[in-house]
Order: sequence, then C-alpha cells, then structure tokens
Amino acid sequence: MKIAHISDLHISGKQDRRQLDHLDRLFDHFNTIGYDHLVISGDLSDSANKVDWEIIRQKLEDHGLYHWEKTTIIPGNHDLIQLEEELRFYNALNPLPQVRKKAFDRRVLEFCIFFQELITGEEGGDKAFPFLKIINFSSVKIALAALNSVYPWYPADNPLGARGYISPSQLKALSDDSVMKSLKDCIVIGLCHHAYKVYGTDSPIDQAFDWTMELKNRDEFLGVMKVIHAKLVLHGHFHRFQSYEVKDITFINGGSFRYNPLCYSELVIDGEGSSTQRFVTLSP
Ligand SMILES: [Fe+2]
Ligand SMILES: [Fe+2]
Repeated sequence: MKIAHISDLHISGKQDRRQLDHLDRLFDHFNTIGYDHLVISGDLSDSANKVDWEIIRQKLEDHGLYHWEKTTIIPGNHDLIQLEEELRFYNALNPLPQVRKKAFDRRVLEFCIFFQELITGEEGGDKAFPFLKIINFSSVKIALAALNSVYPWYPADNPLGARGYISPSQLKALSDDSVMKSLKDCIVIGLCHHAYKVYGTDSPIDQAFDWTMELKNRDEFLGVMKVIHAKLVLHGHFHRFQSYEVKDITFINGGSFRYNPLCYSELVIDGEGSSTQRFVTLSP
C-alpha cells in the first residue's frame, strides 16, 4: 500500500502558471506510479483564499484524485487565518475573543464543507474534527486519524496565527473506547498540520520567535497518538522535507510544495504493517 504525501502548497491564485503546471506534473506522476492514497497536510492556500482551494479541488478532479478513498486533506493556518484581515478586524472593532473564536469555527466548517468528499465523504456527515478514515486495502487496513491543529489568531498568544493547538475535545474524542474498537487491526496514521518537533535555530533573533510556530500542546497530542497506537504521524507547517522519531513514532514532515514542487514523501506499508519512507525528487 503506497501513500504519497505533500504539504504546504501555498497556492497563490491562477496567475502563477508555473506553480499550477508543477501541480499537474506531480499529480500525473502520482497516477503513473499508482499511489493508493494521497495526503495533503495543510496550507493549501497562501493567503486563506477560497480561490486557491478551488484550484486544488479542480486539479484533483482533473486527475481523478477527488475521491474519499483516494485523497485526504486537512487545513493549515494559511487556509484559515488571513493575518491582515484579523488585524483590521481587531483594530477596527476590538471584538471579544468569543466573537473571533466563532468566526474561526465558521471558517473551519467552511473548509470541511468545501472538501467534504475528502474528509467525511458524506452529505451532512460530521464535519468537525477529529475525523477517522478507515480504508481497507487488499494487503492492509489503514486508519487515518486527522486532527485540526490550527489555533485562532490572538494578539498576545498567537500573533502570527502560526502557533498550533489541538483542542482538548478533539483529543478526548480520539481517545474514546469506541474509537479504539474501530481501530482494531488497523495501521494507524496520525495527521495534523503542525509539527511535534520544535525547529529551533541558532540565531538568537529567530529563537525569540520559535514559540510563535510551535504546537502548544504537542505532548498531549503525542500521548493520544500513543493511546491509539499510531505508528506514523504526517504533518507539514515547517517547510522542511524531514522525518524524525519520537517515542517509537515516526513523524514525517511533508515539506513544502511551494518551496520545492518536485519533491514529495512516499510511504510504503506492507501486509505486516512495516513501513518504509523516502523523499522522492522528480527530475527538473
Ligand atoms: Fe506553510
Ligand atoms: Fe503552516
């Protein structure tokens, strides 16, 4: 069973022909290789523009990938938060945090409805995170456990909108006994936009900003991944193609299509549940 994983496309409108041609090429390549599933781990758009979601949906449709069993998508901060708009709204009206939270929740819902086919796959199904996608392949049964890690913009706590947080209700829902039953015999793969790893830098100036990109409750998240026996977690956000181990879980950072549109992550899972991962780079 083979999964292709890409992230952080940061599509910026229809004018960027080069970016769109690269996307066609990559999707063509996925079909040529014959991947069983494609995962896109957030930041589809560069500036929370629905036009960019439409571009991706259309490209997936054109390549026959716009099906529940073929592709899974989650949002990134750049899909849900438009920083300038947040600042404008805040400065003009200074709305209560609850009002802003409501607006954010509406945006999450909008994303889930827009990509319903790739999320719950059902009309009127549960549009909220977390969602579980269990797919039976001939050799292996895969469960994708997807969480929304995008945290609303707050002036002091999340000034760039890039900080991540997974709501306690999502973590609780995923640790429920009924979930554990449905995950029986599955290879469980966690999915969220933010990284577990704190990508530090040596520069003191950058270090001062590290916290603005972090997943705030990464250890609670890790705890739930252990509870559901996830072997792998796929994410994006930090634009680096990289994999790393934390407590016997392999985390795979799908890097950034925007940064390198020729590179993606390939994950192969055999009938015993063992996996091998590599980054594939297409020739220019
Ligand atoms: Fe990104
Ligand atoms: Fe991001």
